[in-house]
Amino acid sequence: MNKETVVSGIRSTGNLHIGNYYGAVKSFTQMQHEYDCFFFIADLHALTTHPTPQDLHGNVKQVLVEYLACGIDPEATTIYIQSDVPEIAELYLYLNMNAYMGELERSTSFKDKVRSNPDNVNAGLLTYPVLMAADILIHKATKVPVGKDQEQHLEMARTFGNRFNRMYNHDYFPEPYAFTYAKNLVKVPGLDGKGKMGKSEGEGNAVYLSDTPEIIRKKVSRAVTDSGPTSEFQEKPEAIQNLFELMKIVSSEDTLNHFEEQYNKMAIRYGDFKKQLAEDMILTTEPMRVRINEIASDTDYLSKVAKQGALKARDSAQKTIKEVRELIGFRAF
Ligand code: TYM
Repeated sequence: MNKETVVSGIRSTGNLHIGNYYGAVKSFTQMQHEYDCFFFIADLHALTTHPTPQDLHGNVKQVLVEYLACGIDPEATTIYIQSDVPEIAELYLYLNMNAYMGELERSTSFKDKVRSNPDNVNAGLLTYPVLMAADILIHKATKVPVGKDQEQHLEMARTFGNRFNRMYNHDYFPEPYAFTYAKNLVKVPGLDGKGKMGKSEGEGNAVYLSDTPEIIRKKVSRAVTDSGPTSEFQEKPEAIQNLFELMKIVSSEDTLNHFEEQYNKMAIRYGDFKKQLAEDMILTTEPMRVRINEIASDTDYLSKVAKQGALKARDSAQKTIKEVRELIGFRAF
């Protein structure tokens, strides 16, 4: 078998939103029958925000349920929980020795975190990209399905892998690249008119896969708009453009064209536009919502999936760590 290896993960910090789905998980599900795939729940990364043990455990379970509900097939792929594979933490330690303060401090995500959370600038946050590189390199992956916001982290993973190769004079780790089936890496906007959809971007910004139709209708109806276009074919302000981007993702081309035309003719009624957007979001998330509710109560199944995934992931990780130790010079007498 000469299939390329795929690795990707999602932090266990809350429910999955449609940004996670269209940015990453949808590609995962498409890749699982074509590649050798490892999908994991990043619970070590979640520790940077200091969750309580109950919250951590509950969130890991929720992400596992939602991965499965999105169609990730544990028979075709390896689904596992990051903390079940201690070899990742070991590789993280080795890679940290050649990751430099300056480059870590310059990472955009680190600078964002420092700005938004000045009271919790911990070392785990600084070395977050190193742990992410360990996640990927531990399986020697070359393809990483992620959204646009992870592009810089992938560049850092290549840097750390290449540096290791140079240091030990061995062409060991292949270069991993961000992957999507779309033309470009995806950035799904949020409903607040300001930027991307995210878990920590404030109440009402994200639509979750587990949201009920009533909640989705309410969130979309509250999305930021303006008083309408004042000239034909006018450029859309960011908040309106974002809603059109969301419609592009969940609605049919005919629907999108209809509202584009209305906007360009200055005849758009935002009430109707948002109602349609909400109904199409409900329709696209419906099958996943149903599955989430079915799977969540099946503890035996979840436990079986997690155990089987941990075994498969460790098998691959142990092979890499054994070789890495040998290259570094940890050898038996
Ligand atoms: P996380 O948990 O923030 O997000 C998980 C995945 O969802 C994508 N995503 C989005 N895509 C498009 N539009 C959005 N609004 C949007 N919001 C989130 C993210 O790009 C990501 O692909 N560091 C990672 C988790 C991780 C990882 C890894 C990923 C840890 N180790 C190794 C790949 C490989 C993170 O915090 O993603």
